[in-house]
Amino acid sequence: MAKGLFITFEGGDGCGKTTQIKLLDEYLRNKGYKTLLTREPGSKGLGVKLREILLNYDGEVSPTCESFLFLADRAQHVDCIIKPAIDEGVIVLCDRHTDSTVAYQGYGRGLDLAQINMLNKIATGGLKPDLTIVLDVDVETSQARVGQEKDRMESAGIEFFKRVRQGFLEIARQEPERVKVIDSKQSIQEIHAKILELVAR
Ligand code: TYD
Repeated sequence: MAKGLFITFEGGDGCGKTTQIKLLDEYLRNKGYKTLLTREPGSKGLGVKLREILLNYDGEVSPTCESFLFLADRAQHVDCIIKPAIDEGVIVLCDRHTDSTVAYQGYGRGLDLAQINMLNKIATGGLKPDLTIVLDVDVETSQARVGQEKDRMESAGIEFFKRVRQGFLEIARQEPERVKVIDSKQSIQEIHAKILELVAR
């Protein structure tokens, strides 16, 4: 059986990825492809429990502990959900993956990037997305879209989100073949059309 594809969506909070990933999913299904729409942290099972801690725990969480929790969720997600689906020929669409840990825990929290890359490799067993779409959003727009009710990660502050944005742009600069940046200020339909162009390629 032919292998599927692995496409990830990345970007700052409130960048519109969730809308776009759903539109792409719908498009591919209408074309007759088998897809799996999933997310990190917390697609299902154990991941949902880890997501609850990561987004809602209100005590102190050290950046290293935070990283390991995201990575634990990723290892479980890749082994039990993503890899089996790709092996069955499914197109897996994942809302956030390894680049979020580089951008948020590496650039945002200031952890060592080489170590994060190594831990990502362990968590994924070396699996890499065929295509990653970064929806680039400026921090002011992002904060306005997130609104007043913030989860633990969204409460990190404006300087943190500026570093996260730079992180995503730097990842795209380093891996231009895999990672494509789209300006999220455009209309939903314009962004969707650009994503279809990239996926068709
Ligand atoms: P979520 O509600 O899924 O936000 P969004 O809709 O913006 O994707 O929350 C996920 C949060 O977790 C988001 O703030 C980004 C953060 N995150 C990390 O910090 N590191 C990671 O490795 C991942 C996967 C997510």
